Amino acid sequence: MRSPIIAGNWKMNRGTPDEVKEMLKKFIPQVKGIDLVDIVICAPFTALQTLIEITKKTGIKAGAQNMYFEEKGAFTGEISPNFLKDFGVEYVILGHSERRDIFKESDELINKKLKKALYMDLKPIVCIGEHLNERESGKTKGVIEYQMNETFKDLNIEEMKKTVIAYEPIWAIGTGKTATPEQAEEIHVFIRDLLSQKYDKETADSVRIQYGGSIKPSNAKDLFNKENIDGGLVGGASLQADSLTQIIKAAENTIK
Ligand code: 13P
Repeated sequence: MRSPIIAGNWKMNRGTPDEVKEMLKKFIPQVKGIDLVDIVICAPFTALQTLIEITKKTGIKAGAQNMYFEEKGAFTGEISPNFLKDFGVEYVILGHSERRDIFKESDELINKKLKKALYMDLKPIVCIGEHLNERESGKTKGVIEYQMNETFKDLNIEEMKKTVIAYEPIWAIGTGKTATPEQAEEIHVFIRDLLSQKYDKETADSVRIQYGGSIKPSNAKDLFNKENIDGGLVGGASLQADSLTQIIKAAENTIK
C-alpha cells in the first residue's frame, strides 16, 4: 500500500557539478528499471542544477536539504521555496537533526517551513529523533511525541498524507551505530499510533515513515523488512553509487 522511498542525503559532501556527474554516471544505469521504489537525491543547492539536468529522463527525483518559509525578501543567505520549485526540485528535507542542533532550528520554525513547502507543492521529508541521553533516560517516546505535536502542528489530513516522516535517532547518525530493526520498528509503530490518534487510521496507514541513521547495504534488508519502515534517509552510504544502489535494491525486494 505504501511504496518505499529511499532518499540519499548528501549533506555538504558532494556539491560541485563534477562530483555530481561522477556519482550519477555510475548510479543511473545501476538503478534503471527500478520503478516501484521512489528514489530521491537531496543535494546541496550548488549541485541541484546538474542533478536535475542529468536525471531528467530517469525516475530519480531531486531534493533540497533546506529552505526558508518566505518566498522573497531580505533574508540574506536563505533559499526561497519558489526558487526550488522553479528549478524543478520535488522534495525538500526539513528539520534534519543537524539543522536543529547546529543551526538551532526550532520546532516552530520547522512547522512554518513545512506549511510553506506544502503550500508550494514541494514534498517534505521531515526529520524527528531523539539524542542518546534521551534514549538512555527512557525519554524517546516523549521526545518523539513532542516533536510530532509541534512540528506537524495544524496540518490537515491532506497535508499530513503528503508529508514523509524520517525517524532518525541522532545517536545513530554517522556513528556506524544503527538502531536495531526492532528498536526502529517500535518507534515507527509509535509514530503511526500518534498519527492515528491525531487524524485517523487511514491517514496513519498512508504516511510513509523512513528510518535514517547509519543505513548500509549490510543492514538495509532487515530494517526494510519491518512492516512500518517504508524506506530510508541515507547519509554516508548515499555518496557512492554502489552502496546506494544496494540499499535501493533491498527496499525493492521487500515489495511483495
Ligand atoms: P548516515 O547514514 O551517514 O548515518 O546519515 C543519516 C542521516 O542523517 C540522513 O539524513
